[in-house]
Amino acid sequence: MIHPLIREIRALPPESQELTVRGWVRTKRELKNLVFVEVSDGSCFGGIQCTFDRTGRWGEETEKALSAISTGVSVEITGKLVPSPAAGQEAELAAAAITIIGDAPADQYPLQKKRHSLEFLREIAHLRARTNTFGAVARVRSRLAFAVHEFFQSRGFQYIHTPIITASDAEGAGAMFQVTTLDLEALAKSGKPPDYGKDFFGKRSGLTVSGQLEAETYALALSRVYTFGPTFRAENSNTTRHLAEFWMIEPEMAFARLEDNMVLAEDFLKFLLSTALRDNAEDIAFFNAHIEKDLSGVLRSVVDTPFVRMTYTDAVTELEKNAQSFEFRPYWGCDLQSEHEKFLTENVAQGPVIVTDYPREIKAFYMKMNDDRKTVRAMDVLVPRLGEIIGGSEREENLSALEERIRALGMNLEDYSWYLDLRRYGSAPHAGFGLGFERLIQYVTGMANIRDVIPYPRAVGQVNF
Ligand code: 4AD
Ligand code: MG
Repeated sequence: MIHPLIREIRALPPESQELTVRGWVRTKRELKNLVFVEVSDGSCFGGIQCTFDRTGRWGEETEKALSAISTGVSVEITGKLVPSPAAGQEAELAAAAITIIGDAPADQYPLQKKRHSLEFLREIAHLRARTNTFGAVARVRSRLAFAVHEFFQSRGFQYIHTPIITASDAEGAGAMFQVTTLDLEALAKSGKPPDYGKDFFGKRSGLTVSGQLEAETYALALSRVYTFGPTFRAENSNTTRHLAEFWMIEPEMAFARLEDNMVLAEDFLKFLLSTALRDNAEDIAFFNAHIEKDLSGVLRSVVDTPFVRMTYTDAVTELEKNAQSFEFRPYWGCDLQSEHEKFLTENVAQGPVIVTDYPREIKAFYMKMNDDRKTVRAMDVLVPRLGEIIGGSEREENLSALEERIRALGMNLEDYSWYLDLRRYGSAPHAGFGLGFERLIQYVTGMANIRDVIPYPRAVGQVNF
């Protein structure tokens, strides 16, 4: 039998059961004849207090072990679960014996009791999961990853595994990492251009920037689908919101329009937020106290309040009225800058906003054209602090309109012939969106830097571990 976790032990009634706790020492305190050892195992936010009483029977071995332990040491402690006289905890362990499993010399172990900066912890990412902050982030990530599946599976969406290696640039933004087995050094010496016909896949390929196009093919077969997997972007953007490797959730629905897409996105975000508030209550309380003031209150109000909706045109009008507040002057046709998104969410809507109907020039080729022929049925969900958290659209289901757009953008029709087949055979209106999983975790935890919500961040110049 695997040993009980502290989260399981903490849920037990304190009725003098004999138990063994296994975990890592957080702190040790002494008070007269008592020694308090706080042990945590990461299974929940709190640890368990193990109290040793010198007046009881206890051998030399225990005294030796107690004097040797310090923060980070792994231990096994046996005792009885009893009601705790201390505030803030139901039960504690009246400990009888302790064994050191793995040492962590105090003069070498990098994680001491004091507070460490997030920058420092990023350098020791292999140890940071042992801190309160990163343990809590990891638990929220795990719970919400599962909630993604719960949400879609209960609504008839099928989980589709779209490819990681692909020859299609789904966003047409040219931010793909190349995948090759060509001998680059030999090629450089030869001075010849690469022959991709001789490359592993027989043509130039890379890591996917989005599973959307492949997900569309399944939506037009299974009606409702979603993907949830790693995505890669070779953008040279060194910001607190961009990673080179991130996880994205992309639902796609057949016989659905932009309106349905907005409803789905709002329901989805509210479901995720309320799941975290319910099932990660202790973790969220920690973030609320130490990371982002009033986080819980804000999350709760987002769950309870309908999202504001506005068209891009109305959003720009709003921004133009306040043009003096921005570094980048807003005008119709401009891509919204993060200062603009911040203004719309924090000053205009005071909460999430769904902005729709963007100019076609600043959006991807596959979005459905509006009758005005200037805007497309796009939607971005913007949230305070972060800006864009979701991007999506109704897709162009008309063959000639889509071909025209691909040609106009100078893209190769041949490359998209399989995608165009969806419009040739049994085409139907359809819509979907992408939620960046790390942006969601930033939103829910209040963590300021996206590099702190994924175990091992990959960004420009950063690939350690
Ligand atoms: O807006 P994006 O580029 O949209 C797509 O990829 C569409 N194919 C989605 C769809 O309609 N199926 O990206 C979607 C979301 C963004 O809103 C953002 O949350 C996240 O993915 N994202 C990133 N997250 C972290 N690092 C990056 N470099 C990101 N780029 C996008
Ligand atoms: Mg986008």
